[in-house]
Amino acid sequence: MIVMKNVYKKYPNGVVAANGINIEIDRGEFVYVVGPSGAGKSTFIKMMYREEAPTSGDIIINGINLATLRNKRIPYLRRQIGVVFQDFKLLPKLNVYENVAFALEVIEESPDEIRKKVNDVLALVGLTQKARMFPNELSGGEEQRVSIARSIVNVPKVVIADEPTGNLDPETSWEIMRIFEQINARGTTIVMATHNREIVNTIKHRVIAIEGGLITRDEYGGEYYEG
Ligand SMILES: Nc1ncnc2c1ncn2[C@@H]1O[C@H](COP(=O)(O)OP(=O)(O)O)[C@@H](O)[C@H]1O
Ligand SMILES: [Mg+2]
Repeated sequence: MIVMKNVYKKYPNGVVAANGINIEIDRGEFVYVVGPSGAGKSTFIKMMYREEAPTSGDIIINGINLATLRNKRIPYLRRQIGVVFQDFKLLPKLNVYENVAFALEVIEESPDEIRKKVNDVLALVGLTQKARMFPNELSGGEEQRVSIARSIVNVPKVVIADEPTGNLDPETSWEIMRIFEQINARGTTIVMATHNREIVNTIKHRVIAIEGGLITRDEYGGEYYEG
C-alpha cells in the first residue's frame, strides 16, 4: 500500500532530511510518526503526497510510483490521499460546506453527488449544524474537523496528517483522535506525525520514530519516547 525504498532527500540548502528510509505500511494500518523537531517527520509525510520529491529512492502509494509520476498526474495522486495539517489550511472565504465541496468539485461530480457526500462527511465529523459558517467563526477543533471532512470526502484509501492536534487543547485533541479512529475503523490507512505523547501512549498503534532522517524504531503498539 505504502512502500518507501532507500528514500533519500537533500534540500537545496544541503540539509539531508531523509537519509535512506525503508518502510512498508499495509492497508488499514494506523501509524504514528514520532521524533524530535527537525528529525524529518514532515519531509517523510510531504514526500507521500508529492509536496516534496525524493532526491533518490522509490515511493509507491496504492501502486503509483511517485519517482516516475509526471507532474500532470499529481492531482490524480492527491485525490487518493487525504491530507490534514496542523494549521488546517481552510479557504477563509468559503464556508464549511464549500471548503469540503471544493475538494470534490474539481473532479466534476454531479450536484446531487456533491451534496450527499459533503453532508455525509460533515455529519461524520459532527458539523452538520455549522455547514454555513466560515472558518473565522469556528474554534480550532471545529476547523480541524472541517479539514478532516475535506480530507476524506473523496474516500481516499490513505489519510496522512502532520501534527493534526499540534494547535489544539488536550480535550479537543482527544475528540480529533476519536474521529481518526472512526475513519481508521472503516479501513482507511492513517499515517500521523505527532508530538502528543499522551495520545501515542494511550491509543496504541504502530510507532515509527524518525531521527536525523532515519527510522530509528518501528514498533507495533509502541510508546512515545525519544532516544
Ligand atoms: N523546504 C526546506 N528547505 C530546506 N530545509 C528544509 C526544508 N524543509 C525542512 N528542512 C530541513 O529538513 C530537516 C527536517 O525537517 P522536517 O521534515 O520539517 O522535520 P520535522 O517535521 O521532524 O520537524 C530540518 O533540518 C529542516 O530544517
Ligand atoms: Mg514537522
